[in-house]
Amino acid sequence: MKITLTVNDQVYTRECAPSKNLLHFLREDIGLTGTKEGCGAGECGACTVIMDGKAVNACLVLAAEANGAQIRTVEGEAKDGILSPLQQKFMEHHAVQCGFCTPGMLMSLRELLERNAKPGEHEIKQAIEGNFCRCTGYQQIIEAVLDLTGQLEHKGELRHV
Ligand code: FES
Ligand code: FES
Repeated sequence: MKITLTVNDQVYTRECAPSKNLLHFLREDIGLTGTKEGCGAGECGACTVIMDGKAVNACLVLAAEANGAQIRTVEGEAKDGILSPLQQKFMEHHAVQCGFCTPGMLMSLRELLERNAKPGEHEIKQAIEGNFCRCTGYQQIIEAVLDLTGQLEHKGELRHV
């Protein structure tokens, strides 16, 4: 079947099997491999993308279901080789270690920041509750967002200065 998606403001039309999921469509059919496959079963969040404004697990969405949708992936974060402010804060706070969870984390947080420009720690934790990270212990990720939104000085427990 023919699928047309807008990904990071670019329109793609491809033939694909009705059973193919959005994750494999992004990675295999249009070559956007930034979105990662961890569990393939909706458990790890590595495949998180934004579909029509909502963070979704791309492994659980059929490409056919996403036909006509607006999708955002990690490739849409940096512009002209310059990291987005969120990516920059991730780097500064050592919130990226192996990096496998990072594309999904960024998309969950991007969705959060678009509906809430100043999320508290609890809201940040809620936004990434479906995103597993085996490396960072999550604290650096939370600090990166608090710093981005000008709230880190209120925490009083800077770990990286
Ligand atoms: S790969 Fe989709 S949730 Fe794990
Ligand atoms: S940085 Fe390795 S899984 Fe999160």
